[in-house]
Amino acid sequence: MKLAVIGYPIHHSKSPFMHNSWLKECGLKGSYEALEVPPDQLGEQIEDLRKRNFSGYNVTIPHKENIIQYLDEVEDRATELGAVNTVVIRDGKSYGYNTDGDGFLKSLLTKRTTKEVSDSQILIIGAGGAAKGIAGSLHSFGAEKISIANRTVIKADQLIESHGLTGDSMDLAAAQHQIGLFDIVINTTSQGMYPHIHQHALDATEMKAGSLAADIIYNPLKTQFLKKAEAAGADILNGVGMFVFQGALAFEKWTDKIPDTASMINKITKDMK
Ligand code: ATR
Repeated sequence: MKLAVIGYPIHHSKSPFMHNSWLKECGLKGSYEALEVPPDQLGEQIEDLRKRNFSGYNVTIPHKENIIQYLDEVEDRATELGAVNTVVIRDGKSYGYNTDGDGFLKSLLTKRTTKEVSDSQILIIGAGGAAKGIAGSLHSFGAEKISIANRTVIKADQLIESHGLTGDSMDLAAAQHQIGLFDIVINTTSQGMYPHIHQHALDATEMKAGSLAADIIYNPLKTQFLKKAEAAGADILNGVGMFVFQGALAFEKWTDKIPDTASMINKITKDMK
């Protein structure tokens, strides 16, 4: 079974390590490689993967949107998002999916029960692609009390409206004032990602004790946002879980096997330290 991840640049990706470990653990013959694909070569490279009988591949920055035009079929949620992170090739046809939002949800469910998630007042910081996927998965799962804070408020308005969420849209200053009211606060912006480790979109100092701060970033493992949330007495969840679960959902589509996510989260966490 031949698998890959395509992106540009791609050399820092942990996906080959993760999927090659899972292939081995599941007793499957095959390999997962990282392919650096410049934007102007996307069409020809994916045609090449199809001809070379790849079973599928992951898609990462900057190709998640542009890939769609080359696929035969795209699942509804990926079409709505306008972004695909997983492609399955079957009988010469390419099918597009997006496992990012559900990957986040599965990670969240390692910290909170189903009921807690659907009863929680949730604040999502950011309204880009990652936020859209996460809001969509949380909403499908039954959570409705979801507010969105974004630097550009109109994008937060659109996200609230498109999903019919019962929360508010707001700018970052308003969210900063209200942060203590939420049970779960999720950072989906790139603020705080290496090398800009001292930045944060919101200061978590005033988060409620016992609430949960989640970040989709995993480099560093503990962002400034999570550090301050922890100091405030909140639980924290970094982006390793989302990364592992989005990968596991892709792996299941390609192989019909369920990989070991818990030990992979430990391995990647150790590796990042
Ligand atoms: P992704 O697909 O990874 O979510 P994106 O679509 O570019 O990336 O979205 C990035 C998010 O981070 C957006 O919500 C963006 O806010 P804007 O919509 O106002 O651009 C947010 N973001 C990026 N840089 C930011 C900054 N310096 N301060 C606050 N928010 C920022």
